[in-house]
Amino acid sequence: MIHILLILCSLFTFSTHAAVQDFCVADLKGPESPAGYSCKPAAKVTVDDFVSMGLRAAGNTSNIIKAAVTPAFAAQFPGVNGLGISIARLDLAAGGVVPMHTHPGGSELLLVTQGSIVAGFISSANAVYVKTLKKGDIMVFPQGLLHFQVNGGGVTAVAFASFSSATPGLQILDFALFANDLPSKLVEATTFLDDATVKKLKAVLGGTG
Ligand SMILES: *[C@@H]1O[C@H](CO)[C@@H](O)[C@H](O)[C@H]1NC(C)=O
Repeated sequence: MIHILLILCSLFTFSTHAAVQDFCVADLKGPESPAGYSCKPAAKVTVDDFVSMGLRAAGNTSNIIKAAVTPAFAAQFPGVNGLGISIARLDLAAGGVVPMHTHPGGSELLLVTQGSIVAGFISSANAVYVKTLKKGDIMVFPQGLLHFQVNGGGVTAVAFASFSSATPGLQILDFALFANDLPSKLVEATTFLDDATVKKLKAVLGGTG
């Protein structure tokens, strides 16, 4: 009996030590691959790798969209590397908007903690799902789909967006179209917008060409 217990104990010890890796805190000095960052040596990991105070403060909304997104993805919050989760803080001043965008790498769950937000997404079948969210409300945005958030009242709104990825990524549609050097002729051909509109949007959003 004692023999069997000893064998079981040693098997258990063996399996917890050899087969399970509890975490892989990002080594931000190394490169990032599709599988994430490589792991910081466990001996160098501290509790501060698993804690972030970066979302305490409101982001600076003095910008063209009157909005600030403060990410706690693997690059800012190394403890989430490899865990398939992350979070960001969203501050939306009155009149603020997060333009149409996608997260290629993960689905999003938005929780409004102050004010109200009009949020929506567009499916790949072009169905529109839009709702006014109030404090305490949540909404999900499936991975890869275009979505947006607009302040729904006259006061600053705050929300937290969690993701099913440590590196969900962010691509903003307006920036993709009007904030780079894709020649205006090609922007016009692929969007059916006229030259004046494309030039105007490029001027506003910092595009050239
Ligand atoms: C917010 O951003 C604006 C524009 O970049 C800048 O002028 C201002 O100083 C910033 N405010 C704070 C508190 O950082």
